[in-house]
Amino acid sequence: MAIPIDVVIMAAGKGTRMKSTLPKVLHRLGGRALLVHVIDCAARLSARQAVVVTGHGAMEVEAACASLAESTAIFEKNISLKFVRQEPQLGTGHAVQQALPLLADDGVTLVLSGDVPLTQAATLVTLLERCDGKRLALLTLSMADPTGYGRIVRAGDGTASQVRAIVEHKDANDAERAIREIYSGIMAVPTRLLRGWLARLDNRNAQNEYYLTDIVKYAVADGVPVVAYQISDAAQVAGVNSPLQLAELERVYQSRRASALMEQGVRLADPARFDVRGTLACGQDVEIDVNCVFEGHVTLGNQVRVGANCVIANATIAAGAVIHPFTHIDGEKLGVQVGEGARIGPFARLRPGANLGPEVHIGNFVEVKNSTLARGAKANHLAYLGDATVGERVNYGAGSITANYDGANKHRTVIEDDVHIGSNCVLVAPITIGQGGTVGGGSTLTKDTPAGALSVARGKQISLANWKRPVKKVKG
Ligand code: UD1
Ligand code: MG
Repeated sequence: MAIPIDVVIMAAGKGTRMKSTLPKVLHRLGGRALLVHVIDCAARLSARQAVVVTGHGAMEVEAACASLAESTAIFEKNISLKFVRQEPQLGTGHAVQQALPLLADDGVTLVLSGDVPLTQAATLVTLLERCDGKRLALLTLSMADPTGYGRIVRAGDGTASQVRAIVEHKDANDAERAIREIYSGIMAVPTRLLRGWLARLDNRNAQNEYYLTDIVKYAVADGVPVVAYQISDAAQVAGVNSPLQLAELERVYQSRRASALMEQGVRLADPARFDVRGTLACGQDVEIDVNCVFEGHVTLGNQVRVGANCVIANATIAAGAVIHPFTHIDGEKLGVQVGEGARIGPFARLRPGANLGPEVHIGNFVEVKNSTLARGAKANHLAYLGDATVGERVNYGAGSITANYDGANKHRTVIEDDVHIGSNCVLVAPITIGQGGTVGGGSTLTKDTPAGALSVARGKQISLANWKRPVKKVKG
C-alpha cells in the first residue's frame, strides 16, 4: 500500500517586501491566490491532508483560502484542509512543529511554502519516491547566484556524494557560500523521524530561529540516508517576495498555459500577450489574437476566433462564432452563451444571462444582459437589451433600449419572431411586441402591440410651408 502523504504548507511569514495590507499568500497568480496553487498541487498528489501554518493575517488567510479553495473545486479531490497557528513566528522548524499534532507517524510529511506557486506535482511525486517512507529527501537546485539561500553541504564534490547538512546563508562561512547547490525549501520526510528531529531543534544561529533545515544534521547523525533531488527548472521552486517577483512568475505561469494550449492546436497570435486566469477549454482551430484575457471558466468551440483586446469571463462560445476586437464578456455566476456562428463586437458587452442563439449579431456599443436572443436576431449598433426575450430574425435598431427597470423592479420585454424595431425606440417593460410587427423609429412604447402591425408612438410630423426664420433686430 502507498504511504500516506501529509502536506504541511508554511504560510505564517509576513511578506514585508510586498508592501501590501493583503497577506502575501493571498496575492493572486493566474487569478488564484498563491496559497491556492500550493493546495491544488497537494490535492493532485492525493495527499490525505494539507495543514496550512498561518500567522500573519491568519484569520484573513484561513477565511479567504477556504472559500477560494471551494470555488476552485479543490475539495472535489478529497483533500482535507486544516489550519494551525504559529504565534510568534520563530522559524521554519518552529512552523512545522505547530503542525505536528495533526500528523500521524504512519505517513510522510511533505513540506511546502505558501508563497511558492509553480511547483509541479510530478516533481513532488519524484521527491516522494526518493523519500520512500525511509529517507530524508530534499529538493535542490544549482544557482548561479545562491545568495540568501540555504547551501547543500556534501561530503565530497559532485551530486553523487553524501549530503551532510544545509547551512543557511547567514551562518555560512566563505567556503560554504561558494556552494551553488541550494535547498529549495521543499522536503519530504518520514513523519516518525521528523517528530524526533524537531524535538531536538535549537535556535543557536545567526537569526536565532528554529531552522527546519537543521534536521539534516540529525538525519546524518542518526544514520538516516539524506537524498537530494536536484532539478533545473528554477521557476518551480521560486518564491514570491515582491511585486516584481510576482509579476515575473505570472509571466512564467502564463507562458506555460499558452504553450499547453498551442500544443493542443490553439493558434495564439502572441503567447506573450495572452492571459488565462481560470480555465480555458478550446476546440479545434481556435484563433486568439493579442491581448486577450480569459477569466473564470471559458469554453471556445471549434473554429472560434477571438479578436484583439477581448476580455472574456465565464462564457461558452459555440463553434464558428467570431468575437471581434475590444469585446467584453462576463457571465459572472449566470454565464453567457454565444451560439454557433454568432458575430459579436467590436466593442460589444455581454453580461450575465446573455444567451445568444446561432447566427446572432451583436454589434458595437451594444449591451446585452439577462436576455435570450433566438437564431439570427441582430442588434448591430448602440443598443441595450436587458431582461428581454427576442425571437428569431428580429432586427433591433440603433439606439433602441428596453426600459426594464422602474426604479424598484425589473420587468421583461418580449419581442416575438421577425419583429423590426426601428432606431431610438424605448420599449417600456413589461411589454410584448407581437410577431412580425414593426416599430417606427423614435417610438416610446408602453403597451403591447399586435402581430403584424406597424406601431408608432411619437409626435406626428408636421411641416409649415414657406417658414420664415426670425431676423436679428438692428440696434439704435
Ligand atoms: C528557507 C530555508 C532555506 C532555503 C529557502 C528557500 C530554512 C531555515 N531555510 O529560508 O534553506 O534555501 O527557504 O526559499 O528553512 N515561515 C513560517 N514561519 C516562520 C518562518 C517562515 O511560516 O516562522 C514560512 C514563510 O512564510 C515562508 C516559508 O516559511 O513561506 C519560508 O520562510 P522564509 O523566511 O522565506 O525562509 P528563508 O529564510 O528564505
Ligand atoms: Mg526568507
